[in-house]
Amino acid sequence: MTRFKTLGQFIIEKQAEFPFAKGELSRLLRDIGIAAKVVNREVNKAGLADILGDNGTENIQGEGQQKLDVFADKEFIEALSNGGECCMIASEEHDECIRINTQVSKNAKYIVCIDPLDGSSNIDVNVSVGTIFSIYRRKNFDNEVSQEEILQQGTEQVAAGYIVYGSSTMMVYTTGKGVNGFTLDPSIGEFCLSHPQMKIGQDPHMYSINEGNYAHFPQGVKDYIKYCQQIDEATNRPFISRYIGSMVADLHRNLLKGGIFLYPATASYPNGKLRLMYECNPLAFIVEQAGGKASNGKSRILEIQPQSMHERTPIFIGNIEMVEMVEEYLIRG
Ligand code: AHG
Ligand code: MN
Ligand code: MN
Ligand code: MN
Repeated sequence: MTRFKTLGQFIIEKQAEFPFAKGELSRLLRDIGIAAKVVNREVNKAGLADILGDNGTENIQGEGQQKLDVFADKEFIEALSNGGECCMIASEEHDECIRINTQVSKNAKYIVCIDPLDGSSNIDVNVSVGTIFSIYRRKNFDNEVSQEEILQQGTEQVAAGYIVYGSSTMMVYTTGKGVNGFTLDPSIGEFCLSHPQMKIGQDPHMYSINEGNYAHFPQGVKDYIKYCQQIDEATNRPFISRYIGSMVADLHRNLLKGGIFLYPATASYPNGKLRLMYECNPLAFIVEQAGGKASNGKSRILEIQPQSMHERTPIFIGNIEMVEMVEEYLIRG
């Protein structure tokens, strides 16, 4: 059996490529990997532990928090707080940023935006869920890290990744030099390199969208859906429709097989449902690094200047030719 390279070995090997790096980012990625293993353990036995169902609380998004939302949030915040490399966290589950004022962390270099548990509506029905993270470098060391330092464009990310808790548990991340995927081997408790240098599938034939919102879609999106459903062998149509309701799981499948994920503006979410800082930016960074594209329908997701920590954006993300076609349909209107 070929010996797999573990996440830890890979990070150390890659760190050697950054001679001036002192290992802080490497340690931060390791801390995230550890928290992911703890969350994975609870996700895998959710039906047996008292960790399913509503937590009886609501987050700033107006969403009823699931017990696993709160558990995952606590685990990642604890791992990031104790790791000593992160000075501030923006989490979906907290109204404000969390400053980490421990002795070791208050001068730490990195800021982390996180969606601790993505796809919460799927927890109780045993469908894949995920975690999404985005890492920025702190800009100003003159005084205490401020909330404003979170509001950096996606192009400023130093790393981004996701964990998908599915038929197997995978961690996929980029530091701007390609995308690598690691599969958790439960028998040794290690993430092992299983998908080196991931590139988006070059046979794009899938589209993912919640067609229940069709009546409220912009005309250009309605026209694009019709295009996907037309019969045309030359362009592999009709495309396959696949929608899980966990962005990480939909994105991961489209990354491997080729496809597009669309969450346009709808009646309930006039600015789109998905959050820029801890869903759209990190996944856009990954997809661009894997040779794809991520747009808000008019411009590059990574170039949006954030105005607030929980702001939402429409998102069209996947193969370049598919995203550009949606942009064209939206222009035609
Ligand atoms: P979260 O569970 O972190 O709140 O995110 C849920 C998001 C995303 O994962 C998914 O793609 C989308 O909500 C599904 O929304 P609809 O149920 O409106 O289709
Ligand atoms: Mn949520
Ligand atoms: Mn989410
Ligand atoms: Mn979430």
